[in-house]
Amino acid sequence: MKQTVWNKFAEVFGDTEGAKVYFAPGRVNMIGEHTDYNGGHVFPSALTIGTYGVARKREDRKLRFYSMNFEQLGVIESSIDGLKPEKEADWTNYPKGVMWAFGERGFEIPCGMDLLLNGNIPNGSGLSSSASVEVLTGFILRDMFGFDVTNQDLALIGQFSENKFNGVNCGIMDQFAIAMGKKDHAIFLDTADLSYEYAPIVLEDAKIVIACSNKKRGLGDSKYNERRSECETALAELQKVVDIKSLGELTEEEFESYKGAIADPIREKRAKHAVYENQRTIKAVKALKDNDIKLFGELMNASHVSLRDDYEVTGIELDTLVENSWKQEGVIGSRMTGAGFGGCTVSIVKTDCVDAFIKNVGEAYLAKIGYAADFYVVDIGDGPSVL
Ligand code: GLA
Repeated sequence: MKQTVWNKFAEVFGDTEGAKVYFAPGRVNMIGEHTDYNGGHVFPSALTIGTYGVARKREDRKLRFYSMNFEQLGVIESSIDGLKPEKEADWTNYPKGVMWAFGERGFEIPCGMDLLLNGNIPNGSGLSSSASVEVLTGFILRDMFGFDVTNQDLALIGQFSENKFNGVNCGIMDQFAIAMGKKDHAIFLDTADLSYEYAPIVLEDAKIVIACSNKKRGLGDSKYNERRSECETALAELQKVVDIKSLGELTEEEFESYKGAIADPIREKRAKHAVYENQRTIKAVKALKDNDIKLFGELMNASHVSLRDDYEVTGIELDTLVENSWKQEGVIGSRMTGAGFGGCTVSIVKTDCVDAFIKNVGEAYLAKIGYAADFYVVDIGDGPSVL
């Protein structure tokens, strides 16, 4: 891949003088969904698939972008001055947003640059291709201009750019998982204070299998913002009867005793998911530490049910994948991962059952949905790097 992007950079931008090659991963969340903007816990891992980038400084103020994933768009040009989101700018709004966010933080970018990207994360799959581009851009800017920021700052800057420049009110999970990724580990992150711990994912005789529904997300972003504001309203109602800063502070029992304060049954279901999912995540990490992979899998399954019935972010495609996965031999756990409304599922499958799993779930999905799902057996990798 390094050679491929390097050669393409030479072809698109004339030569490779002064250029460097970089990589940032995608991420998969094992459990803890829609908890990161509710002050709860998440448990994601960085993947070995991600976004490759070749970048170099320019002498002028121009920005020139090229993506091998959107070759039909050709070179998209812009300027480092007056950065603002524009519909025609398409995917370049992600790197531009990060450049803008550095400026907002007082890090002035002194010149323009040429940037070529090539990602091997399926687009719109829920494996965080956009957060991968954001963290990659921040990592490149730090390397190029020597900005004094940590990897955790890169995550926060990426999230800030997504919230304020690209208008998606996402939490911190994706950018954090990518910027702080560690090979063969998941990150147990408390989003209330960003304290975290790495937990080894040792699956001796099992694999992590991702199934991509290939459903285009469409309205996903606005639905995402809607869920977020439902939780905020439910929190405000609960705060009238209990002194909490976030839903993540409540145990299941506390939620059950205070839930009467939430005036609307839909909002009650949303808040219930946030509270129970957070507690499930804490239990799941404990199960992993106790080497109880069976319980970990059961908690993954329960997470899906809650996302389906209470949070209502799954849909027929993800439900078809997961419900068929549960029926297969050798499946330890299976659930949707990421924002939902399309995207991917994550399953832990015994190694010698993986082929049959892919065949059977793939056939059932095609028969019911009418188009195919894609399957990936993935590995957990490190955060961003210079290649
Ligand atoms: C998206 C967001 C994350 C998180 C997940 C749901 O991936 O970017 O911040 O909220 O959805 O868990």
